[in-house]
Amino acid sequence: MSIQVLRQSPGVDASDEDYQARISAAKAALGERLAILGHHYQREEVYRHADFTGDSLRLSREAAASRAEYIVFCGVHFMAEVADVLSRPGQMVLLPDLSAGCSMADMANLAKVERAWRELREVLGDPDEVITPVTYINSANDLKAFCGRHGGIVCTSSNARAILEWSWARREKVLFFPDQHLGRNTAHAMGVALDDMAVWDFDLPYGGLTPERIRAARIILWKGFCSVHQMFRPEHIDRFLAEHPETHVIVHPECSFEVCQKAEFVGSTEYIIRTIAQAAPGTRWLVGTELNLVQRLHERFQHEGKSVHFMSPTICMCSTMFRIDARHLCATLENLVAGRVENRIQVPAADAADARAALDRMLAL
Ligand code: 13P
Ligand code: SF4
Repeated sequence: MSIQVLRQSPGVDASDEDYQARISAAKAALGERLAILGHHYQREEVYRHADFTGDSLRLSREAAASRAEYIVFCGVHFMAEVADVLSRPGQMVLLPDLSAGCSMADMANLAKVERAWRELREVLGDPDEVITPVTYINSANDLKAFCGRHGGIVCTSSNARAILEWSWARREKVLFFPDQHLGRNTAHAMGVALDDMAVWDFDLPYGGLTPERIRAARIILWKGFCSVHQMFRPEHIDRFLAEHPETHVIVHPECSFEVCQKAEFVGSTEYIIRTIAQAAPGTRWLVGTELNLVQRLHERFQHEGKSVHFMSPTICMCSTMFRIDARHLCATLENLVAGRVENRIQVPAADAADARAALDRMLAL
């Protein structure tokens, strides 16, 4: 990743209204040369400027289809990397704040995954014959490239089931990283017993597992998690249902197994929005996902008499998504208007083709 200092536009202490007007003016000046992609967890002040909004899968499809010269990604770093890998020659991807990362993605790195692969080889023989590596899209590009090189694939929260079916159709086992919860919740929903899953502790030799445990597992789950979704607890659901038993509970699959087991619906951000949009007027919803999205759902559906509640009693936001604010978006766009490309995300060419192979396998499904 090349780090460049963000050159701020004049007037960084401008009011929110100023930023809104300046973003609209810069968008108008750039016209069709610009596409802004916005993830559902983005704060409202930038989300409202997105040309396309969506979950990770939808945004990767939008990025691949875009013809714009500049793709400004209001999301986190791995999403901008995916957009760069899928981009056409002449297109550039920009992330308004380079410090917008993902703590879950940081829980797996290439050195640790390659060590796991070597250790699995010692126990199982050639892993390329036995294990499909599956990386959640919330991961660094070099891990997607690793999957591309080893016959593996990328998944998102909305296609994880289809991706696991694809993977098991090819090889006997799956190594799933970095999110243990998405892997466990998806595999369990497909009928895999918890005893047939093993958790790979990436800080321990052989993942802290015995050779017998490794041989018996159908899926090996990297011990990563999302710091936002781990905040939701089964007791939050119990307490709410005790007061409002008619409530529908809907959660993101990055939540723990215990939380997902208590939920009526489990799915990606796009699925959560669609499910509540299609629900009958007057229904009540308890939602286990990031606060900015839940707040937006609450505002959007209250006039239909639907009440949408945030699951945790404490505030839990994705602090890295939150770094993309109106000031950073404004600076990025005004720099482009002035002919300056700042905060470009460009994956190393050596990894781009292998990562693309893993992403293309996913997009083809
Ligand atoms: P979605 O693909 O469901 O939008 O999830 C992305 C993400 O980072 C959730 O934490
Ligand atoms: Fe990463 Fe969790 Fe934020 Fe999603 S919500 S970007 S998984 S830290």
